[in-house]
Amino acid sequence: MRLALVGGTGDQGFGLALRFAAAGHEVVIGSREEERALKAAERAVEILSEHGYEDATVEGRENEKAVSDADVVLLTVPFFAVIETVRGLRDALPDDAIIVDVTVPLETAIGGRPTRTITPWEGSAAETVQSLVEQPVVSAFENVSAELLRDLDREVECDVVVCSDDEDAKRTVMELAEDIPGVRAIDGGPLANARIVESITALLIGLNQRYGKKGIGIRFTGIE
Ligand SMILES: NC(=O)c1ccc[n+]([C@@H]2O[C@H](COP(=O)([O-])OP(=O)(O)OC[C@H]3O[C@@H](n4cnc5c(N)ncnc54)[C@H](OP(=O)(O)O)[C@@H]3O)[C@@H](O)[C@H]2O)c1
Repeated sequence: MRLALVGGTGDQGFGLALRFAAAGHEVVIGSREEERALKAAERAVEILSEHGYEDATVEGRENEKAVSDADVVLLTVPFFAVIETVRGLRDALPDDAIIVDVTVPLETAIGGRPTRTITPWEGSAAETVQSLVEQPVVSAFENVSAELLRDLDREVECDVVVCSDDEDAKRTVMELAEDIPGVRAIDGGPLANARIVESITALLIGLNQRYGKKGIGIRFTGIE
């Protein structure tokens, strides 16, 4: 698949770009500045080839061009920027693209703590995005740390809860998540459940602080 990471120059987007490119997808790192996108793509190709993925495909483009021919568009910008970013890209999004929201409404968006969330009007960041676009929105990857994603020497020992009101889009993103070694995708139900999933990220940030770690994640038991 062809994947575009809006804000893919940042920690989370870059980590996802590495993992998806390693899995054989065509990845485009998006940025507000083409120059930054190109540099990040160059760095990604370097890291991937150091790890034996010489055939991995990573391009860098300005966000609007990055999304224009993508099958899946992942939003990896800070929450405070997500509404403006999506409004700015709306016309460039292909009609049949799936939009994956990775953003978390941490209280940092209003100068507060990363261990707390705020509640957007629609209930979650993902539902906010869905209110702005016609394409199906899927919530995923909020509980996976960038630290783990970026370390290609390790498996990402984490469940990824995937929520959407569109079952086909949800299945596609669940399969995509499981292309990352160690990840198990969990059907998280409707998009409204993103409210719960997003708040788990704030809990994980607090756990990382208390235990002096960087990559604490979640695993559900009793499913299989
Ligand atoms: N970091 C993690 O471990 C983690 C884990 C789970 C979820 N998340 C979520 O994933 C999202 C990205 O996290 P991150 O740590 O990668 O964030 P980040 O590094 O702070 O930002 C990501 C990218 O967003 C773009 N950006 C910054 N300000 C912007 C603005 N005002 N308008 C448009 N684009 C802007 C920047 O790209 P350009 O300057 O190149 O445009 C930046 O490189 C957040 O919503 C976060 O809550 C992060």
